[in-house]
Amino acid sequence: MKLEDVLKEDSELIEEKFKEVCQSVHYLSQEELSPLPEAMEYTFSAGGKRIRPALVLETCRAFGGDVRSAVSAALAVELVHTYSLIQDDLPCMDNDSVRRGIPANHIRFGEAIALLASDALLSESLLIMTNEKRQSPEQILSCIALLAEAAGPLGLVGGQVLDLRGEKESFSYEQLCRLHSKKTGALFKASVLMGAVCAGVKPDTEPYRACEVYARKIGLVFQAMDDVLDVVGDAKKMGKTLGKDEESGKTTFLSFMSVPEALDFAEQLTAEAKEVIGPYDRYSMLSAIAEKLQKREN
Ligand code: IPE
Ligand code: IPE
Ligand code: MG
Ligand code: MG
Ligand code: MG
Repeated sequence: MKLEDVLKEDSELIEEKFKEVCQSVHYLSQEELSPLPEAMEYTFSAGGKRIRPALVLETCRAFGGDVRSAVSAALAVELVHTYSLIQDDLPCMDNDSVRRGIPANHIRFGEAIALLASDALLSESLLIMTNEKRQSPEQILSCIALLAEAAGPLGLVGGQVLDLRGEKESFSYEQLCRLHSKKTGALFKASVLMGAVCAGVKPDTEPYRACEVYARKIGLVFQAMDDVLDVVGDAKKMGKTLGKDEESGKTTFLSFMSVPEALDFAEQLTAEAKEVIGPYDRYSMLSAIAEKLQKREN
């Protein structure tokens, strides 16, 4: 199967699951909560590349797992990612007005509802995983721990704090790599490892470690490309305002290297990621995803 078809199928799986979740908790009928349910759906339904859920599902598949058993974890990570985008765009953060090609959540619903909707997406993400009937309690616990750690102060939230500090302080290259590995890399790592756990891969094994290294490398490539595209990308394809990093004085990869150097760096890391995951990549989808991330234009 071609990567594009697989990605489409994976997106549909989590989108169907999200609809199911919304209906089962009657969000959409609770008028008194309006517009919270609508705000929760708004940024999620606007789309996006759905890379993190694809990593969960395709890692699970690569290790011989049933992808249906990984759909809750795949949806959960996309909800955490969506929550982080809503908060990232707030005026107190990056102050962005466009996301996924439409007005940012706070532009559409106001800051208070955007903040509450993002909080609600974060808590829903954990709840969804507790209800997964196809996983054992141990697997569910491992997935929750992986996602919660990746989302918290040691991961995404900590990375966002460093990101904001990087607007005012000059960072070393090592600090920048730490920043990126937290703000973006942590969710990539959680995605790949949750997929592995859903397929029954145990921590402290060779394949689990290969997943960790693969995820670390592609996470760094992903954010390096995000930094590059903020300068040379096409705003229409990206669905967000570009040039923001320079405007706010953020430390990015391009504070340390030129665009061609950053592209070479991404290519090198991608080759390393493919090499490490190669022996376990039964359907070659994890290598194909790594390549796509390095060559992406959106
Ligand atoms: C954007 O992530 C934020 C970063 C971590 C760089 P994506 O580029 O994955 O955004 P969507 O999900 O496709 O909208
Ligand atoms: C965002 O990084 C990472 C998140 C945790 C959301 P950016 O601030 O670079 O993402 P964009 O460029 O706004 O999508
Ligand atoms: Mg940001
Ligand atoms: Mg931003
Ligand atoms: Mg960016």
